Amino acid sequence: MTNMKKLLEANAGHGQRRVSQVFRDFCELAALAIRNSVDPHGQTEREERYLSIARGYTSEEASRFAEALAHLALQLEEGFSDALGHLYMSLDLGNESIGQFFTPYDVGLVIAKMNVGNILGQLAEKEFVTVQEPAVGSGGMIIALADALREEGVNYQQSMHVTARDLDITAVHMTYIQLTLINVAAVVVHGNTLTMEELDTWPTPAHVIGGWAERLQLRHAETTPQTVPGHAQRGMGAEDYCTCDGPWPCPQAAETADAA
Ligand SMILES: C[S@@+](CC[C@H](N)C(=O)[O-])C[C@H]1O[C@@H](n2cnc3c(N)ncnc32)[C@H](O)[C@@H]1O
Repeated sequence: MTNMKKLLEANAGHGQRRVSQVFRDFCELAALAIRNSVDPHGQTEREERYLSIARGYTSEEASRFAEALAHLALQLEEGFSDALGHLYMSLDLGNESIGQFFTPYDVGLVIAKMNVGNILGQLAEKEFVTVQEPAVGSGGMIIALADALREEGVNYQQSMHVTARDLDITAVHMTYIQLTLINVAAVVVHGNTLTMEELDTWPTPAHVIGGWAERLQLRHAETTPQTVPGHAQRGMGAEDYCTCDGPWPCPQAAETADAA
């Protein structure tokens, strides 16, 4: 982390740029580069955005960004942590902007370990679990959950899909980068959880390559009662479903039951 901090501080120069802006640019550049490798939708606009940020830095400074990303990848490979959240806090950016504070990783890990039994129970019955994080920050709680599952011998890359949301675009970028680096299948939504407004969705490479859109669609079809008109919508059990739209009790359903 010290290396990353030094590299980003070097890119801030001597007061030439605010370190908060350098941090945001670093995250956005990395997130854009990752997303453009897997998501063709909106690629041209993202490429233009990437170039417009990159043009503000010299080639030496751009190399520092690349080096910082390599350090981050290495750090997460050596052991799970909320490396970017920690860096963000250590650069004092939490105080500077909108009072953004992230849960310390060790605390997140304790919480994840307390909840992992519930997930293991669900995994005994189904192929994968879906996890929602409505205010994800830098993704620390999700990384901790992946960590706890891994410790239990679960392949979280195959057994967990995450939908994470945040209002703040830098938080979206941080989460997207970190979940990508530890290979979590996820969609990171830039949006407001309270109003359900969605500005953009960032699918991680593991989501795209793992064919999770189809897996989730299949799960949705399996678990959602068929929306047939009439009797099925009266909240009857599946065995009572009837696709006709006549009066209840349904004579057709009664006939079927009698015949059985
Ligand atoms: C205190 S941080 C916690 C982040 C993370 N869950 C953790 O424990 O480390 C709260 C996060 O919620 C986000 N947030 C606040 N209001 C939100 C809203 N209405 N919709 C989505 N995210 C929101 C903030 O941008 C911030 O990243």
